[in-house]
Amino acid sequence: MPPHPSRPALDTLDEVLAYIERIPERMCAPPQPRFLHDLSAGLQGRGAVVELGTHAGKSTIALAHAQRSRPDGRPVHTVDLVEHPRLAEHLAATGLTDWVVQTQARSSTVAHGWSGPIELLWIDADHSARGLLSDLRLWTPHVVGGGVVAVHDYPGFHGADQKARAVRRFLLARPDRWRVISDREAGSIFAVERLPPAAPPSLLRRSLGRARWAAHSARFVVSEALDLRRG
Ligand SMILES: C[S@@+](CC[C@H](N)C(=O)[O-])C[C@H]1O[C@@H](n2cnc3c(N)ncnc32)[C@H](O)[C@@H]1O
Repeated sequence: MPPHPSRPALDTLDEVLAYIERIPERMCAPPQPRFLHDLSAGLQGRGAVVELGTHAGKSTIALAHAQRSRPDGRPVHTVDLVEHPRLAEHLAATGLTDWVVQTQARSSTVAHGWSGPIELLWIDADHSARGLLSDLRLWTPHVVGGGVVAVHDYPGFHGADQKARAVRRFLLARPDRWRVISDREAGSIFAVERLPPAAPPSLLRRSLGRARWAAHSARFVVSEALDLRRG
């Protein structure tokens, strides 16, 4: 049975997940909405939640419901080329209209104007390898240390297609920068966490290093001098 627009706003996670399941679109099937909800619920309030690809709002609802349940929750920014005719109805039915900021534009266009930190980036827009690579290039620089990038319909680590290659080239080739959280554990979602930049050595550490080097050099000079005296 399709969701009914006049239902009151839904409150519990189970109600919201059940609503999402009744939206008659094939995308974002269980367990993906719960996985996205949990990612959104686990954030630390260090940046925005950004979704590329809204469509009927199945993932939007999961992400936004988690934010609404948090004391420091923020609206979800979602970007799509077009507005789905039933999106507004779904957001109203789940009581999430005020928790979603919609932008109708190409994701690359929005990226060029974006300036704030992002803590969760959910990429589900242009599914071509080229489109994915463009979204990764333009959006991931905004993701904060400890933030998450999740990609939909990823074919897996060993996938031979262009999309898998794009992910391998951009994310998996930088283990110093990205840590894999999920390789399609939740449906076909691949997710990585941005590692915080390695901290430069502190002043104390640098001073200790210099002192150790000076002591080592002094010992060397003394032992050389003693050797010379001994003949
Ligand atoms: C798979 S659907 C998104 C599904 C949605 N996340 C959900 O869970 O229901 C992909 C959407 O991305 C949009 N899209 C495709 N290319 C895009 C682009 N370059 N910029 C913004 N949106 C794009 C399409 O219009 C489509 O609505």
